[in-house]
Amino acid sequence: MNVINLSKRITATIKSYVCNLNDPRFKLLDTGFHGDLYLLKLVDYLLGKSDTFVETGANIGSSLLYVAKKYPDISCLSCEPDIMAFNHLKRNIKDVNNIEVHKNVSEPFLKKIFVKHHLSEKNVLFWLDAHGYGFKWPLHAEIQMITNQLSKAYILIDDFKVPGLDMFLYDQYENQICSYEFIKNYLNPKNKYRIYYPNYTERTSKHHPLKGWVLIEFGHQEEIDKFNFIKRYL
Ligand SMILES: C[S@@+](CC[C@H](N)C(=O)[O-])C[C@H]1O[C@@H](n2cnc3c(N)ncnc32)[C@H](O)[C@@H]1O
Repeated sequence: MNVINLSKRITATIKSYVCNLNDPRFKLLDTGFHGDLYLLKLVDYLLGKSDTFVETGANIGSSLLYVAKKYPDISCLSCEPDIMAFNHLKRNIKDVNNIEVHKNVSEPFLKKIFVKHHLSEKNVLFWLDAHGYGFKWPLHAEIQMITNQLSKAYILIDDFKVPGLDMFLYDQYENQICSYEFIKNYLNPKNKYRIYYPNYTERTSKHHPLKGWVLIEFGHQEEIDKFNFIKRYL
C-alpha cells in the first residue's frame, strides 16, 4: 500500500471511530443507574434482597456491569437488540462470569428467561430500560408478563415521570408519557402493589441530569420505609 492510500485509510478509520462515539446508541460506559447516588443506594438495598437482576435494554452495559461486578453471586440477565450496541456490550462484559446477554428485544427475552432461570422461584430485581432507536416500546408487555407470571418482584422503571417533581426528565413516545397513567392498566389487578418515587431534588451524578424512576413492588411482606429519599405513592 502506498503512502497516500495508507493515509486515506487512517483518516477513514479515525472518522468512523469519531462517528461511533457520536452515535446516540453509545453512551460512554459510566457508573450505571445514571450515577445517581440516591438511586444507587436504593438499588444496593434491593439487590441485598435479590438473587437475580434482570434488565431490559442493556446498551453497552453500564448498569449491568455495576451490578455484576459488585454482586458476583447475583445472576445478571439482560438483552440488547441493536447489533452495534450488542457487539460493544459483548466486549465490555467478556471477563465477567455472572452475566448472560441476549441479542433480542425484551418480550422474547423475558419469555425465555422466565422458564430457563425459573424466575417464579427467584427474588428478582427488574430494571426496565428498553426504549428508543427504532424498536417498539415494550413497557406494557413487560409489565404484563412480570405481574402475571411472578408472585413477587421489585420493578424499577427508568425515565419515568415523577409527579410534582418536574426537574426529573422522563421519556415520551408519540405523545405517550412514561408514567403511572401509561402502565397502570397493565399491572395484574390480582396483586397488591406498593409504588415509590424519588423524594429528592439534588443532582448527584457527574454525567447525567436528573432522570425520573419509579419502584413498583409486589408480593413482599414488608414496606420499604428506611429511606427518606423515597416516598410512597400507593
Ligand atoms: C437507555 S439505553 C439502556 C441503558 C442501560 N439499561 C443502562 O442502564 O446502562 C436503552 C437501550 O434499549 C434498547 N432497546 C430499544 N428497544 C428495545 C426493546 N424493545 N427491547 C430491548 N431493548 C431495547 C436500545 O437499543 C438501547 O440500547
